[in-house]
Amino acid sequence: MLPLLKTRIPGPRSRALSRQLRRHECRNTTFVSADWPIFWERARGCNVWDADGNRYLDLTAAFGVASVGHNNPRVTAAARVQLSRLVHAMGDVHPNELKVRLATELSALTFDRWLRKSEIINHKSKILFSNSGSEAVEAALKTAILATGKPGVIAFVGAYHGLTYGALDATAWNYFRAPFHPQLPGFTVHSAPTESAVRAAFEQSERGIGAVIVEPILGRGGIVVPPPDFLPMLRRVCDEHRALLIADEIYTGFCRTGRWFAVEHWGVVPDLICVGKAMSNGFPISACIGRADVMDAWPESAGEALHTSTHLGNPLGCAMALAAIDEMKRLKLDEHACRLQDRLPGRGLGLMKGVELPNATACQRAVKRLLRRGIIALGGGERGNVLTLTPPLTISEGELEFTAKEIVRATK
Ligand SMILES: Cc1ncc(COP(=O)(O)O)c(C=O)c1O
Repeated sequence: MLPLLKTRIPGPRSRALSRQLRRHECRNTTFVSADWPIFWERARGCNVWDADGNRYLDLTAAFGVASVGHNNPRVTAAARVQLSRLVHAMGDVHPNELKVRLATELSALTFDRWLRKSEIINHKSKILFSNSGSEAVEAALKTAILATGKPGVIAFVGAYHGLTYGALDATAWNYFRAPFHPQLPGFTVHSAPTESAVRAAFEQSERGIGAVIVEPILGRGGIVVPPPDFLPMLRRVCDEHRALLIADEIYTGFCRTGRWFAVEHWGVVPDLICVGKAMSNGFPISACIGRADVMDAWPESAGEALHTSTHLGNPLGCAMALAAIDEMKRLKLDEHACRLQDRLPGRGLGLMKGVELPNATACQRAVKRLLRRGIIALGGGERGNVLTLTPPLTISEGELEFTAKEIVRATK
């Protein structure tokens, strides 16, 4: 199966659009060069077509979002119905029924599955919706100080939790932090991922640590799977210090790693979990899901929510998320990702893999070679040297076989 490239990459239309974009968009946003980017026009399943009519195989799921396949017919149908009914409601004032249904579904998928029946009676989970991954992280960080009274947070070297200021405080990459350092609140301690370093961070904190936030598998940090005892150790240490464990599953959630959520690989139940990306297969909607006793640290609303936003619980996003989750269940994408794990090269779990290359130059070369062969992949890792592979979870064995051969060629 060879994707069909009609023109040299990028084609004339993409190049013209690049020139126009360059004039009007903030120059820091889209990287533009003679051979980058292509402009996406439409997509279906694992295929994307660009503005010049070239077809590509997408190994990114567009940053891990299109897990049930681009333009999935059932998600699109749900979106169409919702578009004709109601596109926007008043999220925290006069909401729409779909917000109720999605909150119930997210509880069922997480804490209702993770806690024993007797615990669920006391600990039903509660949801705080938002629009992006960064905002879900911010909701979790705010929950932590309300629930513990302690402002400090431990995050890990290499971690990526988003770029809005609260989330950026937790993100460890110097590249993103350095220009804004004087404006960062500074409540986060960045720790090495070892028990002694975590314990030292707890001991040395003057103001008290209320939460540990962790990506169960480092995503943008280069697809790094922790040693088997890492997450169970964090659970133990958090319990000892009466701190919350926040699992940032914005990248790893919703079947990506071969389980519904990556924490399930280690049997660890966090206090809060942040989800986004794949939840709706393409609408900007995210959530912080927590145990009810923790989430009830938020005071009952007396008419003015402490943390909300205009588009919170958007009905179109909720409709798409409910349809995407139904598709994950119907297609058993957790099992599919688990079964196909070894068909993709590199380290990782499920269909979240990283191929480590000697340096960023080698990685960029591979990404561009693949693009010229009709395959979309991304570089990752703090040093930019990891070829990151997160295809739609609907990818077939044949497409994976083709991919594996092309990756060998591109990384030679
Ligand atoms: C683990 C993790 N957390 C948070 C974020 C931030 O999400 P967003 O870009 O939607 O704000 C990302 C984005 O890649 C992520 O991978």
